[in-house]
Amino acid sequence: MPLICVAAPKGGVGKTTLAANLADALHRAGHPVLAMDCDPQNALRLHFGLPVRDAAGFLMELPRRPDWRGLVRDTDSGVALLPHGATDIRAALRLAAALEREPELLLAPVRAMLATPGLVLLADLPPGPSQVLNLLAPLADLVVTVLLADATSAALVPEIDSGRFLGGGTLAALHTSRVRVVLNQVEASSRLSRAVAEALVRHLGPRLLGAICRDEAVAEAVAAQRLLHALAPDSPAALDIGDITRGIAALLPPLPLSIGPQSIGPLPTEPVAP
Ligand SMILES: Nc1ncnc2c1ncn2[C@@H]1O[C@H](COP(=O)(O)OP(=O)(O)OP(=O)(O)O)[C@@H](O)[C@H]1O
Ligand SMILES: [Mg+2]
Repeated sequence: MPLICVAAPKGGVGKTTLAANLADALHRAGHPVLAMDCDPQNALRLHFGLPVRDAAGFLMELPRRPDWRGLVRDTDSGVALLPHGATDIRAALRLAAALEREPELLLAPVRAMLATPGLVLLADLPPGPSQVLNLLAPLADLVVTVLLADATSAALVPEIDSGRFLGGGTLAALHTSRVRVVLNQVEASSRLSRAVAEALVRHLGPRLLGAICRDEAVAEAVAAQRLLHALAPDSPAALDIGDITRGIAALLPPLPLSIGPQSIGPLPTEPVAP
């Protein structure tokens, strides 16, 4: 079923925040959601209230060929979560080398996840071009790219137009049709933010999924290790994320009749191909 990657050519733009709250909103809209953290910062779990000392995860274990089902965490939100796992430079280099040698270490379990009926797999990617984004982009139904309404983000629009940050080359260029953009931290009271946002709206046209205002409630939710909807459901940013979720849900295959608002449910038990 669908794979949504949340990625961006630039760091610190709100990818993880959007991935977490989008996963929550899609789940509340009735889709079973598995959120997979592909960023060694291992921060997605913090939005779901997982204990900071819980260092286990999926991506960092890949060289040992783990069964991903055993690493899924059920969260209070109902979203199933695959944390990245805590890592260090040696483990990160080992993972990069293992994936270079054998991309199937990641691709086989991801295909098994995507074979789960009705499941939306939502992946939070590290900033910029990355090995994992390069591997996942060909499987993705949608690459949600986050930009800030500032000059640096505007300067990166050619990266999005060309698909270079997806991996480069003709193959990446073929994936650009699946790229959609979310503008984050838009400040209506700032002349620069408004001007950049308006220019990006004109340039991106229908590729723009929506915009999220800069809202203190977003940072407060992270500080409380809670999802925005749980802490401040009527905050301007929560309403913006709701609008974006409806836009994304419209691009997804319709929910099977048997699936309602629920957790991921029992996972299939057949073993993952090594
Ligand atoms: N709409 C918003 N309003 C206010 N603060 C926001 C908003 N969106 C994100 N932030 C804040 O911006 C910071 C960066 O967010 P986040 O960690 O989600 O970015 P990221 O793109 O995942 O970063 P990285 O590239 O390091 O993975 C966080 O402190 C977050 O609380
Ligand atoms: Mg992040």
